[in-house]
Amino acid sequence: MILTTSTAATIARVTLEEHPDGWSLPQPFYVDEEYFALDMAHVIVPNWLFVAHTCEVAEVGDWIRVDIGSDSIIIVRGKDGEIRSFFNSCRHRGSLVCLGESGHARRLVCPYHQWSYHLDGAFAGARYLADDFDPSGFSLAPVHCGTVGGYVFVCLADEAPAFAPFADAARPFLAPHGMDDVKVAHAQVIVEHSNWKLVMENNRECYHCVGAHPELMHSIAEFDGPGSSTNGAGVAEMLDRKYAEWDADGIVHEHTTEGGLEWRVVRIPFTNDSAAMTVDGSPASARLLGALREDQRELGSVRLLHLPNTWNHVQSDHVVSFSVLPISATETKLVTRWLVHRDAVEGIDYDLAHLTQVWEATNEQDRTLAENNQRGIATRGYRPGPYVPVIENGTAEFTAWYRDMLLDGLRRAGS
Ligand code: FES
Ligand SMILES: [Fe+2]
Repeated sequence: MILTTSTAATIARVTLEEHPDGWSLPQPFYVDEEYFALDMAHVIVPNWLFVAHTCEVAEVGDWIRVDIGSDSIIIVRGKDGEIRSFFNSCRHRGSLVCLGESGHARRLVCPYHQWSYHLDGAFAGARYLADDFDPSGFSLAPVHCGTVGGYVFVCLADEAPAFAPFADAARPFLAPHGMDDVKVAHAQVIVEHSNWKLVMENNRECYHCVGAHPELMHSIAEFDGPGSSTNGAGVAEMLDRKYAEWDADGIVHEHTTEGGLEWRVVRIPFTNDSAAMTVDGSPASARLLGALREDQRELGSVRLLHLPNTWNHVQSDHVVSFSVLPISATETKLVTRWLVHRDAVEGIDYDLAHLTQVWEATNEQDRTLAENNQRGIATRGYRPGPYVPVIENGTAEFTAWYRDMLLDGLRRAGS
């Protein structure tokens, strides 16, 4: 999308240039639809977004549909086994081609006048076309698509930033978890009545965890960052012990640094010797992922963060992934998926309620927090407030990343 300079864009630029580090944003950034359009154009569209897992398009012809803002895309596995992405817009007169959430097809057929497309997006056929119709000009418009360790990312921009640095960094963390041999045991879709940035801001701090997340607090600590000076004595000792164990076992854990504020991958142990993020720390699935051994159950989680839209917990026996998909200034879709080994059997290897309880509860608690935050910000009395540095540094970093990204886009657009 090319956005022309608008009054909102100019005001947003001036406001951000003067905005102090470490403070929440002024009201329009959370409530105003014109500002939301700026977010989409300059922050969401130009960046890589996590949208699906490769196991969701496991077979040739499998497709899933993902809507992001006003865009709709299709992710499909082609005859050559490659996963590709296209805009879900027919090259005849623009109808959505795929109407459902997911499906399986030999060709993608538009429901309006039945123009059809091969799985690689090329035009396949239609009735009554003129003799000089050139099919080569009517392929589905491609969307950049990158995969790593079972994760599918897309970038909606004409030109995408490099995906390889992130993929190369994430691959060794994900490798032990056999992410090509997983299945979605459960997916949850929540539409939160809050701006997408509030969903991310809330996720980037654990200041609220002790008060809000009793289920989650069995397996994680309020302060558990590697090397953090604020770790309690017990946590620091536990980190040292686990890192030595993992180093001896060849398990990659060290915090990546090359992604700057935009992405990072790190493996962090759970507290209370928990095997998984369950209410009591007990395993979530008897079937471990990949080729992991029983003595490797306590692998904590790979915490994979990629702004602007995902955080993840990749554990020894299951994975919980989160995909934040903006809808409007005040609505955000959060898709949570629980992945287990593809041979794990529900009721035998895992109990679905036990597997999902912690994050089902945590998501609901976080939804309430984000929606209350949105409501309060929408009042006339809202003023930006300070993030508390010692524990809300992640949120401050998210807002700094967002500010720099939007400012850069606004300046390029001449706002
Ligand atoms: S709009 Fe798709 S076939 Fe006409
Ligand atoms: Fe939370």
